[in-house]
Amino acid sequence: MTEKRTIKAGLLGLGTVGSGVYKLMERQQKEMVHKVGASLCIEKILVHNMDKKREGVDMSLLTDKWTDIIDNDEIEIVIEVMGGIEPARTMILEALNSGKNVVTANKDLVAEYGKELLDAAENNGVDFLFEAAVAGGIPIIRPLKQCLASNEIDEVIGIVNGTTNYILTKMFEDGMDFKEALAKATELGYAEADPTADIQGLDAGRKVAIMASIAFHSRVVFPDVYTEGITGITARDIQYAREFGSVIKLLGVAHNTEDGIEVGVYPMLLPKDHPLASVRDSFNAVFVHGDAVDDAMFYGRGAGELPTASAIMGDVIDVARDIQYHCTGRISCTCYRKTPIKRFDDVKNKFFLRMQVDNKPGVLAAIASVFGVHKVSISKVVQKIITDGTAELVIVTEAVKEYHMQDALEHLKDMETTREISSIIREY
Ligand code: NAP
Ligand code: HSE
Repeated sequence: MTEKRTIKAGLLGLGTVGSGVYKLMERQQKEMVHKVGASLCIEKILVHNMDKKREGVDMSLLTDKWTDIIDNDEIEIVIEVMGGIEPARTMILEALNSGKNVVTANKDLVAEYGKELLDAAENNGVDFLFEAAVAGGIPIIRPLKQCLASNEIDEVIGIVNGTTNYILTKMFEDGMDFKEALAKATELGYAEADPTADIQGLDAGRKVAIMASIAFHSRVVFPDVYTEGITGITARDIQYAREFGSVIKLLGVAHNTEDGIEVGVYPMLLPKDHPLASVRDSFNAVFVHGDAVDDAMFYGRGAGELPTASAIMGDVIDVARDIQYHCTGRISCTCYRKTPIKRFDDVKNKFFLRMQVDNKPGVLAAIASVFGVHKVSISKVVQKIITDGTAELVIVTEAVKEYHMQDALEHLKDMETTREISSIIREY
């Protein structure tokens, strides 16, 4: 066989994901010549702490100087797995502007600065790929951008945060309380160092912004996404969900409607027969509806060392092939439309409301009348007496505008007979 050239990469970060990339690069070394037509290697690795022990890593590759990578003309691919906005954003921009291709797993960055980075890539004729930024090891960016490119996609719904799916599964199946389940998720390495972004829906919000932008060909940024987390979900809500033949899942929901893009992350009661209802533990899944493909679902590991590295290496191999065939920059930003983002207040949802009220005649009728005044149509009412004086009421509504439901809730809170609004959860 004739000698093949070597394509060199610079790795920014050697934490969970960076270590996975390093291992996979080593494991696949011999295969690369066949897969890419060239050898691939990591030339330099940027880290923060040069003194940290890193088992199995060639320590001579480590540097804490960014200039060792950006000024190295032999490095053609930069793999960013440090995380956070800065200095990652500046480094990626510098890399793109100096003609290097970039692969990243950084959802925080892509969800806010995706356009800036894709534009820089296009201007420089290089690749900027980010498959690992959404749902870890599950292929979803490439399917949306390429395989489903002939579709008008009107719906993308996903379980895209492993930590919250694990917590809700443990609460539902094992009766664990929220705190205990979160501690277990942290112990297993699913949660971020600060799990706020997981449990408040921010991590999922970033992933949904990225998917919606690609699916609907119109830029959606993280601040456009309405987010609500799972901290308010109780064992009692789960008990009702079970009685109603549903599960509770934290869903990222994006719809492309005639009056604009609806996009949000919130817990939902989901019927047990929906394909996403069977996605358990830390697994992720994304459900897509297109006018040609109909329903499609993508399922797998949304986080972790090797699953995430698998997505990164898929991108790296794609870039290497583009380098080999002199066609980098082939697919850049696909947002060629400017569809407005719908005000979340105008989005329609069904609601599950659990409240404690005085247990006396006329209360239910008065509550029904409040819903009527605010144009909220009721589909189901369940009443269970808890103590002599208090009744627990569960009301499920038809699909109503968010602001109508919020107005009705304000009104209900002010009623003398209302003791507590215990939960309000959307229903699929
Ligand atoms: P991590 O374990 O915290 O690793 C971060 C790495 O970056 C460390 O090696 C750290 O160096 C290095 N680093 C951070 N700031 C640096 C700086 N200013 N200069 C030089 N090096 C710096 O993070 P991770 O979990 O691997 O996540 C990396 C990225 O992948 C994030 O964008 C994350 O959102 C994304 N992601 C992660 C997962 C997952 O399962 N973990 C899944 C999908 C996407 P030291 O080692 O010296 O501290
Ligand atoms: N903390 C994230 C999760 C990791 O739980 O899904 C991957 O982004």
